[in-house]
Amino acid sequence: MSTNPKVTVATFRKRKAAGEKISMLTVYDAPTASICHAAGVDSLLVGDSLAMTVLGYKNTLPLTMEEALHHTRAVRRGAPDAFVVFDMPFMSYQADDAEALRNAGRAMKEAGADAVKLEGGAEVAPLIAKLVRSGIPVLAHLGLLPQHIMTAGGYRQTGKTPEDAARLLDDARKVEEAGAFATVLECMPADVGRMITENIGIPTIGIGSGPDCDGQVQVLNDLLGLFEEFTPKHARRYAELGRIFREAVTRYADDVKTGAFK
Ligand code: KIV
Repeated sequence: MSTNPKVTVATFRKRKAAGEKISMLTVYDAPTASICHAAGVDSLLVGDSLAMTVLGYKNTLPLTMEEALHHTRAVRRGAPDAFVVFDMPFMSYQADDAEALRNAGRAMKEAGADAVKLEGGAEVAPLIAKLVRSGIPVLAHLGLLPQHIMTAGGYRQTGKTPEDAARLLDDARKVEEAGAFATVLECMPADVGRMITENIGIPTIGIGSGPDCDGQVQVLNDLLGLFEEFTPKHARRYAELGRIFREAVTRYADDVKTGAFK
């Protein structure tokens, strides 16, 4: 059990004001949620990266509400006291606001999430405002938007031109005005990550956006070396569990084959 004080949306605000960093990791199941929370990670994101890291899809688009809810319930069981964010799957919030509200409500009521995350800037600000007015805390997500890879033509870094950097700052201000309690900044140059962080009042949680964001988020499977399809440039490897895992099960299989397993 973590001895850390309970994290809430107020913690995010206080941390930014105090200049204290915020850690976030993606998790998808009960045992890893329990370990990450006990280790002192501030917040757990049931990211839609679940689609690729655990469910074997090629990208995040196929993930369904039911799949995301199922894994969020497991995370909540594993870490009853953690601050858990539910990542809204592709097409669970884009079609209309009423459906978005119902789906975000399900994340909180049926899976025990503390907040939801959704991708986009100015265009989703009115929806963020509606969710927040309904009592649903929202983590925004700007920059590289994995749910937009088809329209973007792939995974592309954003903010490389002054115009694009200015658009990202405008988006960040819009989601802040709409009531988001923080925003993810994914894959933008470090100076753009810093510029946005310095010019908005809510915390920025960076992934591949430089060291000056108010916090950092990583995909657990990248961090542990468990996702071997490819390694995103921004991923930091803290362990090579994929290799260790493979060696262990190979030894087991060999032992059974040779009769050495008793
Ligand atoms: O789904 C996910 O893992 C995410 C992080 C990259 C922020 O959205």
